[in-house]
Amino acid sequence: MCSDPLSLSVPFLKISEKLSGNIATKSQKIKTYHQNEIDVFIKTDESFQKIFSCSNKLLEKSQFVVIKNIGFNQEKSIFEAFVKLFGVFYGAVEYTGIKVDWPYTACKYDAIELHNDDAIDLHNQPKNGFIQVLNEDPLKITKNGLVKIDDIIHYLETYDEELLFKLFNHNVPMLAYGINYDNANKDEILTQEPIFYKEHEENKVRFDLESIQFYYRKKKITQSIQERKMINDFLSVAKKFRVALYLEAGDILIHHNKRTLHDRTGCSLELNSDGSLNTRDIFVSFTREG
Ligand SMILES: [Fe+2]
Repeated sequence: MCSDPLSLSVPFLKISEKLSGNIATKSQKIKTYHQNEIDVFIKTDESFQKIFSCSNKLLEKSQFVVIKNIGFNQEKSIFEAFVKLFGVFYGAVEYTGIKVDWPYTACKYDAIELHNDDAIDLHNQPKNGFIQVLNEDPLKITKNGLVKIDDIIHYLETYDEELLFKLFNHNVPMLAYGINYDNANKDEILTQEPIFYKEHEENKVRFDLESIQFYYRKKKITQSIQERKMINDFLSVAKKFRVALYLEAGDILIHHNKRTLHDRTGCSLELNSDGSLNTRDIFVSFTREG
């Protein structure tokens, strides 16, 4: 599938039983504290520091990391304090359960296309994204996909310089009303930016197909064939370098939100006798640069 299988290596960080047990004991002890006290505890605790330091190194090197067996799950305040170790907290830990009739991307049960989160936010786009799987998909079929954009760019430098040039130079429109679905501010946000850009000598990406398609639909403008082709070509190259991960309950995935794209395959639904549905559910949070 990929021209360079070495570039697809996934940084998994498995926490040892001893360290995980230590974290579990501490988490039980502090979980009823106020958030401020939990934040201070985790920031100064040696065990949490060890996990932060190692996972942050892997994140900086590989742009994403999966932490397994961390010793806590379904503890929102502990997860929040852990996220805060990595940067400026974005403001919330969101609970994302899959819903059948729900228009917002993160809650859809069908597949989500490659994108980065809050791509339309030119000033405050989060640097890192965090998810923890609370409950696995009922059929265990859901996978999270990640693509490093450096892999796409290195490939295009050799095989399609013309497409690479367009991706750095052709402005693509995106439209949204508010950054997040739960934001109070629903003002129109309209951007015209290229998909790739350079910042601090690093390659970065800004891509959200839903916001692009929403622009053309809402403004009743027909997208040019050239732009549609550029986006299709971009996605087909990106998918050559996609790493697919199955995340188990408790696993934490951290990704660099400006240097990777991510997607998710569809989720299954389990129907209970009372008519309720079991689905995969996760905590989601972000940090910005300080
Ligand atoms: Fe996302």
